[in-house]
Amino acid sequence: MKLITNYQVDHKAKNYEIIVTENALEQEYDLSHYHKCFALIDTYVYRLHKAKIDAFMKRYDIEKVLIPSGEAVKTMHHFSTMTELLLEKNIKRNDCLIAIGGGATGDFTGYVAASLLRGISFIQVPTTILAHDAAIGGKTGINSKHGKNLIGAFKRPDRVIYDISFLNTLNDAELLSGFAEIVKHVLLNGNYKVNQISDIVNDDLSRLMQAFNKLDDLKDMNKMQTWITYGIQTKLNVVERDELESGVRKYLNFGHTLGHALEFSHKLPHGIAVIHGMMYALILSGYEENIIEKFYHWLIQLGYPEVEVKSFEHYYALLSKDKKNETDSISFVVMEQRQGHLENVFYLKSFEYGTLKKSFERWVTVLRSCYGEK
Ligand SMILES: NC(=O)c1ccc[n+]([C@@H]2O[C@H](COP(=O)([O-])OP(=O)(O)OC[C@H]3O[C@@H](n4cnc5c(N)ncnc54)[C@H](O)[C@@H]3O)[C@@H](O)[C@H]2O)c1
Repeated sequence: MKLITNYQVDHKAKNYEIIVTENALEQEYDLSHYHKCFALIDTYVYRLHKAKIDAFMKRYDIEKVLIPSGEAVKTMHHFSTMTELLLEKNIKRNDCLIAIGGGATGDFTGYVAASLLRGISFIQVPTTILAHDAAIGGKTGINSKHGKNLIGAFKRPDRVIYDISFLNTLNDAELLSGFAEIVKHVLLNGNYKVNQISDIVNDDLSRLMQAFNKLDDLKDMNKMQTWITYGIQTKLNVVERDELESGVRKYLNFGHTLGHALEFSHKLPHGIAVIHGMMYALILSGYEENIIEKFYHWLIQLGYPEVEVKSFEHYYALLSKDKKNETDSISFVVMEQRQGHLENVFYLKSFEYGTLKKSFERWVTVLRSCYGEK
């Protein structure tokens, strides 16, 4: 499957192709226009897929640079060490960085590429389900002690090579984390309704719920590839309309406001935090408990773990630093609610402390009661 971005802002100039298939890394690519390529590889991924990665690097004479696994690399310390290392290696404007790893590796490598010599090329080789989201759309960045992704840049990759066979080694938590972003893409894109008595009527969302109803279903990579492509297409539709997040792209942050605070506080995999954040956002949107319960029953069946929530004040302190805020109240992406029907219409809405706290208490009650019934 080959998808091509089609940014209307500069037409063909900086579009990039996204190859999604098993063994995509073994296909032929023209990298001859780069002076030299450096692959920044998640150390854990390298250990698991050494033969495959080595063969790729050998074929194109790519230099290997191993980096810390996962989120740990997204720090100013590693950013500084990496940029100095690459400068020491005499990196040139027409060199290229290749990110091989999950979303964290892609965010980090992209930010290094955006900053070095005011911008050099980079290629994404995502190795997690979640990175179907992270590798598309050109957002790159690292974390600050004040919160996640607070330092970053927009930087389009030259190409995305999504080799599905990497996904076979993901553990359960990472499968669930990645699947959460697929759920988000279906909510954003799907044509569906959830009615007052909590029946989920319709196509995309109900198809997804039927296709995946236990953890083992997430290990069926044929099935997963279909939905990964769906997720990528959804994300492309949004970022092609609003690359720099001045409008509709903000809706991709559905569930991420509280999600980031949960991720940061509990060191949860990104998507597991986000899926709980989406449930909170549904309550803020005005949905009744029975709809949230319906979702939670499905999520529990799939194996999503409970969050041992802290006090509202703990998260509020983090939320008030969220970069999407332009005023004192806190802005959330919410989903249109018409007489109890869930609609795929999103907007940004600001909430005061009191409403946020009340909704938080309602969310915690639903969360505890659904997990208590397990
Ligand atoms: N830039 C964006 O638009 C965007 C969008 C969503 C998320 N993100 C970012 O992406 C990150 C989350 O992505 P992620 O979940 O891929 O995280 P990750 O890169 O931290 O990977 C998660 C874990 O999986 C391991 N891993 C990676 N590939 C593997 C494989 N094939 N087999 C076994 N283990 C593997 C990693 O070593 C790591 O421990 C967060 O930092 C988040 O902020 C960015």
